[in-house]
Amino acid sequence: MLSMSARHVFVAASLSLALAACSGADGGSAAAEAPPVIKERHDNFEAIGDAFKAVRGELEKDTPDFALITAKANDINARAMKIEGHFPAGTSTEDGFKTEALPAIWEKPEEFKAAQQKLIDESAKLASVAEGGDKAAVSAQAMAMGGACKGCHDKFRLDDEK
Ligand code: HEC
Repeated sequence: MLSMSARHVFVAASLSLALAACSGADGGSAAAEAPPVIKERHDNFEAIGDAFKAVRGELEKDTPDFALITAKANDINARAMKIEGHFPAGTSTEDGFKTEALPAIWEKPEEFKAAQQKLIDESAKLASVAEGGDKAAVSAQAMAMGGACKGCHDKFRLDDEK
């Protein structure tokens, strides 16, 4: 009998935990005071990361799908253009939000914009090089695009891995 009711309590507790997790994900509960743009930029960067992963995955194959690489590069290009609009003032690591956006973004706006432009340019180039179907050339350009990610992250993204 005791174990039965203990089990009920457990089930009820995990159900309410699950419900709490759901409402948290909707952004509808108490703690969610962060501006929606922070989630938008996270989602945008996650998608950029996934697209780049897909590109690298193709390049590990003997016969990469170059059309897919072009499509992913175009996706990165379109998302790269959105970066600037995702960083309104007051949304850095110093503003108390869960973010890796360093204050340098707002201290050196020209440099940040140049780093964004570099990704726009390198991803456009990747899309066009991929149309040529030369694996070595595409790999080299994918590396160059990766340099654009790193170039910006080194200066403007909090490094939490050290
Ligand atoms: C112009 C600067 C810039 C460029 C270029 C850039 N990133 Fe980022 N990235 C950032 C910043 C800033 C953050 C942290 C955002 C935050 O935490 O609010 C970030 C975060 C991320 C994240 C973590 C997701 C998140 O927001 O928590 C991933 C994944 C990522 N970037 C992948 C990439 C890849 C892959 C590329 C290149 C194809 C790239 N980024 C290019 C600035 C950049």
